[in-house]
Amino acid sequence: MLEIKNLSFDVVDDNNEKDILKDVNLKFEDGKIYVITGPNGSGKSTLVKIIMGIVKASSGKILLNGEDITSKQIYERARLGIGYAFQQPVTFKGLKVKDLLNISSGKNNDFNSLCDYLSMVGLCAKDYINRPLDDKLSGGELKRIELAMVLSRKAKLNIFDEPEAGIDLWSFDNLTNIFKNLKDTTTIIVSHQAKILEIADVVILLKNGRVEKVGKYKELKPLIQTRTCGKLRGVNGQD
Ligand SMILES: Nc1ncnc2c1ncn2[C@@H]1O[C@H](COP(=O)(O)OP(=O)(O)OP(=O)(O)O)[C@@H](O)[C@H]1O
Ligand SMILES: [Mg+2]
Repeated sequence: MLEIKNLSFDVVDDNNEKDILKDVNLKFEDGKIYVITGPNGSGKSTLVKIIMGIVKASSGKILLNGEDITSKQIYERARLGIGYAFQQPVTFKGLKVKDLLNISSGKNNDFNSLCDYLSMVGLCAKDYINRPLDDKLSGGELKRIELAMVLSRKAKLNIFDEPEAGIDLWSFDNLTNIFKNLKDTTTIIVSHQAKILEIADVVILLKNGRVEKVGKYKELKPLIQTRTCGKLRGVNGQD
């Protein structure tokens, strides 16, 4: 179980103090799918970056299975079983796709295992394993490779920040099936998309850096539907 206690994050921007996250309290139970949603700028990415240790909270605590991990570094949290996929995938100059998957899974994978990971994200291994991880890969290809990397880590708790971004043409069913098939894993997904919200055991709605509501998608849907933010249109099934 992951627990977030009284978590706040504030920054000084143009001499003004800005509260990005305010007194966030959340519990993530083992084996469940959580989807964090909310308008652009509501603090979703900041929250998941704080869970991974990429951003340091101003105050509050993070407990993983009762252990206080608030001051732990990213690599320590990774060792404790937290995996993370960025909203904007990172390129790794000089590495090939197969190198990345071997590093993330911690072993030398044979062609069949590499094929398994890549086919899970809709890529054909023979076309990709020797591709360099550079800017010649499209945004959608990079996003899928990053998903494959996170899946190959087999972490106990996986965080995906807008996994749907850039792969609009790819069937959403494939993407949602990946999350549904992650057994014995806690999954935290930041998303604006209805099809992803639908598979959540629990939806967390953030607004202006605060947790506005936590519950089933059905219960939260009216609240989410009232948002007029462009990115949330997908929640109404309009894009
Ligand atoms: N280090 C920082 N300094 C100043 N402002 C910041 C900093 N980090 C985040 N912000 C601001 O905090 C707000 C929340 O950012 P965040 O990236 O968490 O939003 P988000 O909910 O993920 O939005 P989106 O849906 O667009 O991805 C934004 O207004 C952002 O500009
Ligand atoms: Mg974001």
